[in-house]
Amino acid sequence: MSQLLVRSVMRRLVSGGTCNRCISSVSAAAAVVFREVHKPSSESVVMMSSQRLRFSGQWWRMMCFTSEPPSKNSTTSSAVRKEDEKLSGDSVEKMEGEDKVALSSYWGVSRPKITKEDGSVWPWNCFMPWETYQADLSIDLSKHHVPKTFLDKVAYWTVKLLRIPTDLFFKKKYGCRAMMLETVAGVPGMVGGMLLHLRSLRKFEQSGGWIKALLEEAENERMHLMTMVELVQPKWYERLLVIAVQGVFFNFYFVLYLLSPKLAHRVVGYLEEEAIHSYTLYLNDIDRGEIENVPAPAIAIDYWRLPKDATLKDVITVIRADEAHHRDVNHFASDIHYQGKKLQEAAAPIGYH
Ligand SMILES: [Fe+2]
Ligand SMILES: [Fe+2]
Repeated sequence: MSQLLVRSVMRRLVSGGTCNRCISSVSAAAAVVFREVHKPSSESVVMMSSQRLRFSGQWWRMMCFTSEPPSKNSTTSSAVRKEDEKLSGDSVEKMEGEDKVALSSYWGVSRPKITKEDGSVWPWNCFMPWETYQADLSIDLSKHHVPKTFLDKVAYWTVKLLRIPTDLFFKKKYGCRAMMLETVAGVPGMVGGMLLHLRSLRKFEQSGGWIKALLEEAENERMHLMTMVELVQPKWYERLLVIAVQGVFFNFYFVLYLLSPKLAHRVVGYLEEEAIHSYTLYLNDIDRGEIENVPAPAIAIDYWRLPKDATLKDVITVIRADEAHHRDVNHFASDIHYQGKKLQEAAAPIGYH
């Protein structure tokens, strides 16, 4: 059965379907494998499994009701969204009423019904209303850390050199470029946070909030990706490239962070400076009309608390502001190391957006 799962995953990768559809397929295959391997012996357990699968389906539907990329025909998609929101809300209530044992109280992990400010059902499982924020657009986008030390110059020129193949590969396809680079951008925060977490356990010492700050950065980058993938659908060879790049970059950054966290954070600081530059070029193309200023995806509207009529330009503007904050956090972390201190000796910028 595990071969079935692997085959299903590979088929979806090669067919180049949407990210959400791919995950959906994997989930379905996993459900088949699970049911085959753990075939229940009693009828009551069969019923519980089926209820859970139905429940998962409902939640999955809630999660991906905006999986289609926004288009000019936004009235249709918003009508579908409203219908899905209504269905999702009704379904949850119905399922809760149908079988309290299977859904709400058996494990004690059911989520209370969460609504938006306007009273509609909160449609996302991947982030909650209290994790949303309004980006600070007043941040200085032009700030630059001038490389002075040898390691700083290594970091700076490494990033500048990495930009060359990136420019050659993507040219002016900024949407595609952003989507692909966000798959990389989410790695450093997770690796840094993970290593600080392990260090905290190993050394019996507090992290000073830096674990949380770096994991917040990783999550924020992943939300950039979740937004971009609503706008640009990756092709099959881009999916393969992401897998290869992630394999290389994760291991590279892991080793780099172990050897020299100050260099690792400096590299990320410069990567963020490049990201600001790339998103500025993206915005320029939108302003010139070379890229259509389509309606913002629903996930972005909720995550950044954007107005309902927000557009792609608004989304790229807030993402760029996020990148500027990541730049500051990472240069700051590197500077702490340069002063011969541990990160926990300086207050971590938790919630710095
Ligand atoms: Fe990002
Ligand atoms: Fe970033």
